Amino acid sequence: MSANDDAGSGGGEAATVRQADRAAYRGAGRIKIDGVGKRFGDLQVFKGIDLEIGEREIVSVVGPSGCGKTTLLRAIDGLVDTTEGEIRIGGERVVGPPRGVAVVFQHFGLFPWKTVYENVAYGLRLAKASKAQIAESVPRHIELVGLKGFEKAYPYQLSGGMQQRTGLARALATDPQVLLMDEPFAAIDAQTREILQFELLRIWESRPMSMVFVTHSIEEAVLMGDRVVVLRGRPSSIDQIIETGLPRPRTRDVFGTPRFNEVREQVWSLLMREAEQAERELQEVR
Ligand SMILES: Nc1ncnc2c1ncn2[C@@H]1O[C@H](COP(=O)(O)OP(=O)(O)OP(=O)(O)O)[C@@H](O)[C@H]1O
Ligand SMILES: [Mg+2]
Repeated sequence: MSANDDAGSGGGEAATVRQADRAAYRGAGRIKIDGVGKRFGDLQVFKGIDLEIGEREIVSVVGPSGCGKTTLLRAIDGLVDTTEGEIRIGGERVVGPPRGVAVVFQHFGLFPWKTVYENVAYGLRLAKASKAQIAESVPRHIELVGLKGFEKAYPYQLSGGMQQRTGLARALATDPQVLLMDEPFAAIDAQTREILQFELLRIWESRPMSMVFVTHSIEEAVLMGDRVVVLRGRPSSIDQIIETGLPRPRTRDVFGTPRFNEVREQVWSLLMREAEQAERELQEVR
């Protein structure tokens, strides 16, 4: 079985859900990552990454710290050059920041000297949107993420959750076809995090996009993803891709279902295996 074959095949009900899920949400491959590797000087971060992400698909990416998750997102966003292989978005090879791609970062990445309104408008201004477009899109997206009334607030006046809502509104205001999420909820308390996960899912349901969702949380990876990509090794590569086979729209009911638990355990054991190997290598060095 190759690394890209779907693992986690369960029979019966889960398989049926998976078929329905696939038909309803995938669409054609929007992002094609083909034999991609990245080296920084002597450091080969990852190699041989093959992954295709559908037009209406959420792919979660997990793997140990330093395995290159952020670097992979930056490569998709054209901010770092790959050293091997190629990435295509909508058929076009990525050679610089592509159109239609937006990113949400762990540490919000807001301008502290700009208001919520101006932060959300930033991506549109960068894309040289007209005044009329900005005046239409910014308030609509501020409302979409539940920040109506906070247009004039500065980031320091907002909670972490509200700052990330602003980051999300900024990303969505450009109407992206691809949304890259780099541990977007990692710095947010557990309760707010769960609220934001379901809000993001709700927004995605209303305007499906291709999403690559990097996280250290196994639960979050399973909750969000149609598939979970597990990276391992140094240099890292794709260890397994697990089809979650969970129905959409996803609600809180998914927690605790046999399939959710099964996938979570599967991802957990893959990551544990990697952690144990790293520990063994460390012992050998000592
Ligand atoms: N611009 C750069 N120049 C040199 N090395 C880099 C650069 N960016 C990242 N690296 C190295 O590449 C490796 C992968 O980094 P990356 O940030 O992509 O990992 P990650 O999987 O996102 O980690 P984490 O889970 O901690 O966020 C690390 O060893 C890092 O030091
Ligand atoms: Mg990272």
